[in-house]
Amino acid sequence: MIGIRGGAPRRARLVGFGSYVPETVVTNQDLERLVDTSDEWIVTRTGIRERRWVSSEQATSDLAIGAAKDVLARTGVAVTDVDVLILPTCTPDHVFPSVAALTAHGIGATRAAAFDIQAACSGFIYGVAQGTAMIEAGLADTVLVVGAEVLSRFVDMEDRTTCVLFGDGAAGALLTAGDPDRYTGFLGFELGADGSRAADLQIPVGGSRLPASGDFAPDQAFVKMNGREVFKFATRIMEESVIRLLERLDISIDEVDLLVAHQANQRIIDHAVKRLGIAEERVFNNLERYGNTSAASIPLALSEAVDAGRLSAGDLVLLVGFGAGLTWASCLVRYEPE
Ligand code: UT7
Repeated sequence: MIGIRGGAPRRARLVGFGSYVPETVVTNQDLERLVDTSDEWIVTRTGIRERRWVSSEQATSDLAIGAAKDVLARTGVAVTDVDVLILPTCTPDHVFPSVAALTAHGIGATRAAAFDIQAACSGFIYGVAQGTAMIEAGLADTVLVVGAEVLSRFVDMEDRTTCVLFGDGAAGALLTAGDPDRYTGFLGFELGADGSRAADLQIPVGGSRLPASGDFAPDQAFVKMNGREVFKFATRIMEESVIRLLERLDISIDEVDLLVAHQANQRIIDHAVKRLGIAEERVFNNLERYGNTSAASIPLALSEAVDAGRLSAGDLVLLVGFGAGLTWASCLVRYEPE
């Protein structure tokens, strides 16, 4: 249960990360045997070399449970202290109940309020914004945000334009209430959505407009993407969103210690890095090993950045993403594990 606490000023603090990915590694060479593609095309056009796929028994909540447990183990926080579990996903186990409720049950977060957020690949930043707002409003002290996706169930394995891009995985972050005299916390967010672009990236079947019980062409149950349009949108919006955020906060890109962008396509990230003028050594990517894991991609990269010694206590971190909706999101935060 979450309560009304109010009182002293509070700041949401970014304490740590964790992740869980399925065991099965699918390489570009494996995909060469499935569709008319090549390792060379995939690497040069996307930067992806391999991705993970779930086993036939696994669903999104199974990955989310693994990631949530890893976040708690790494941050040393007791599961019974979690007030809210926010779960960004666009590939839930079911239309309802939420993956969040299944995950809270799976980890034993019996006190936690739990809900999903659907903002596709922007979902992790949207979820963190929601968690920050709840902490700073005094509604919660400890919030777990876990992005989890099983995209392999929603891509057409006969469609080479999409099946090579996506992967499965889960990763998350822990936010707690911090003293504003001691912690910087989240400096700001820039979030947006443009539903006029909905058709550029969607799964047509499975909701109330085209229910799974109706008549539809089999390919309509899979990801449909206008790749070139999404590419153009992504390159424009990542730069614009970050510039709006930094200008509003009056912070220069030179002050940013680490940029973690949504891991969709290396060419999109490289474009943003160049346009924003941030040094490449201040950018962390792991796209080549996981592909696009949508709402899990940013926390999965953050988790590995910590392990790789690329993210240290006190660093100023810039996050930016884009996705179906079309949505976008950026965020500036100081990483304060201690
Ligand atoms: O989280 C948000 C999710 N979405 C994205 O981030 C996607 C954004 N878009 C992209 O990343 C890129 O547009 C793609 C990677 C999807 C495609 O790259 P592209 O450079 O825009 O290629 P294209 O769509 O212009 O296609 C070029 C050619 C086409 O052949 P023709 O018509 O020129 O003969 C495609 O049929 O590449 C062909 N092609 C492939 N060839 C080999 C498309 N997919 C493949 C493939 N293997 N897997």
